Amino acid sequence: MLFRLLARPLLAGLTALWLLFGTALPAWAEFSLPPLPYAATALEPAIDATTMTIHHDRHHGAYVSNLNGQIAANPALADLSLDALQGQISAFPLAVRNNGGGHWNHSQFWAVLAPAGQGGTPSPELLAAINKNFGSLEALQTQFNQAAAARFGSGWAWLIRKADGSLAITSTANQDNPLMDLPGIERGVPLLGLDVWEHAYYLKYQNRRPDYIKAWWALVNWNEVNGRWARAGVGA
Ligand SMILES: [Fe+2]
Repeated sequence: MLFRLLARPLLAGLTALWLLFGTALPAWAEFSLPPLPYAATALEPAIDATTMTIHHDRHHGAYVSNLNGQIAANPALADLSLDALQGQISAFPLAVRNNGGGHWNHSQFWAVLAPAGQGGTPSPELLAAINKNFGSLEALQTQFNQAAAARFGSGWAWLIRKADGSLAITSTANQDNPLMDLPGIERGVPLLGLDVWEHAYYLKYQNRRPDYIKAWWALVNWNEVNGRWARAGVGA
């Protein structure tokens, strides 16, 4: 009698739990949109608040929701960190590559920027590596600007640390990045990546991509780049 009295609520409870968790992915398995680390107005005048809001909320937001929309068809995604996904991206369909790359690239983009005058300068260690590999910071910037301006259509320009410890400048199309295990990509750990998709600058700069690139340098968060450089060499 006691069992029969308890069985019904127990069964109802288990059914409710199944409905809650059994038919939906657990929240911890999904990717999430990181908030901007500063106000949308913080990078003005180089990057206007409207561009920042649309870029972060809608474009980056869409990459995250579209990536989450791929989990059901690609359950291995639920067990991968965003970082780990990049190095295994060849095992997934194009929609994961585009949206997983878009999520990683934009997450780094917000992090390597800071309001003008607040981003610090290259650390002595990073500056020594820059001088060794490029001759000077100005020479690095010239080469980087050329890579960013020459990227046809949509893509990214990158400063990377290669496996041999050297620095290099490279460029990727669409939402690819140097962490991806794909043919034709110069691989390395990204230290600084610039978004040259038109959505990143068109409202303010229209077709003047070089003006956007020039203004963007004043926003580089060298403190963050220094940390990425220091961490990239750990265990290498
Ligand atoms: Fe973008």
